[in-house]
Amino acid sequence: MRIPMIAGNWKMNTTVAEAVALVKEMRPELDRIDNVDKVICPPFVSLAALRELLEGSSVKLGAQNLYFEEKGAYTGEISPLMLAELCQLVIIGHSERRQYFNETVELADKKVQAALKAGLKPILCIGETPRENDAGKTEEVLTRQLSLTSKQAYHTGLVLAYEPIWAIGTGKAATGQQANQTIGFIRRHILKQYGKEIAQSVRILYGGSVTADNIAEFIKQPEIDGALVGGASLKTSQFLGIVKQTSEIKRVK
Ligand code: PGA
Repeated sequence: MRIPMIAGNWKMNTTVAEAVALVKEMRPELDRIDNVDKVICPPFVSLAALRELLEGSSVKLGAQNLYFEEKGAYTGEISPLMLAELCQLVIIGHSERRQYFNETVELADKKVQAALKAGLKPILCIGETPRENDAGKTEEVLTRQLSLTSKQAYHTGLVLAYEPIWAIGTGKAATGQQANQTIGFIRRHILKQYGKEIAQSVRILYGGSVTADNIAEFIKQPEIDGALVGGASLKTSQFLGIVKQTSEIKRVK
C-alpha cells in the first residue's frame, strides 16, 4: 500500500514571520489528520524556525531545491548536509527551476543523488511544456526526464511529481482522467525499467492548479498517490481541505 502524500510548495512566498504564522494556524488541524504524509516546503530561510515549531508534529518539512556539492566555494548555494539538519524532504527539478534557471536532466539527477546521500527524500518533478503536449511528445519528454533516475533512488524512497507545465499556476488543471492516464504511463515505464516491486511502490503525485475544490477528482484515481500543491498550499482552509479529502478518499475500507 502506498501512503498518500500532500506536499505544499510555497515557492518564493512568505517572510519568516508569515511562515511561522501560517504553520501555527495549520498545525493543530494537520496533526489531527492521519493516513497522509503531510509536507510543507517553505523558502530556505524559514526552515529553521518551522523545524522548531513542528517539533513533535506529524507534519514534515521539505526544501524547494539544493546544490549537489556538500560544501565549498559555491556562493549563494545550499548543500544537502545543511538541509539534512533542518528538513526531511527536498523538491528537485521543479519546472520553474528547469525553465528559469536552466536546470537539466543531468543536474536534477546529480541533485537527487546528493539528496539521497544526505538522507533527504527527493520529490522529483517531471512534466511537459504546452508545446510538447500539443505536439504529442508528452511520453517522450517524461521518458527522457526519468532516464537517469536509478533503481536505487526509487528503492530509497524517491517520490515523483507529475506536473504538466501548462497546468501550473494557471488555474487550468488537467482532468483527473488525463492525469491518471499519464501517471499510469509513468508507472508502466518504471515497471519496464526496474520491475514490478519498484513500480508498485513508488509514489507518484499530481501537481498543477490543485485546490480543495478539485482534489477529489485526482485522489480518487488509482494511479495518483497525492499532490504537489502550489498556490492553494498558502491558504489554510484550502490546504486543510486538500489534506482531509485525501485522507478520507484513500482510506482502505
Ligand atoms: P500550483 O503550483 O498548484 O500553484 O499550480 C504547483 C507547483 O508548481 O508545484
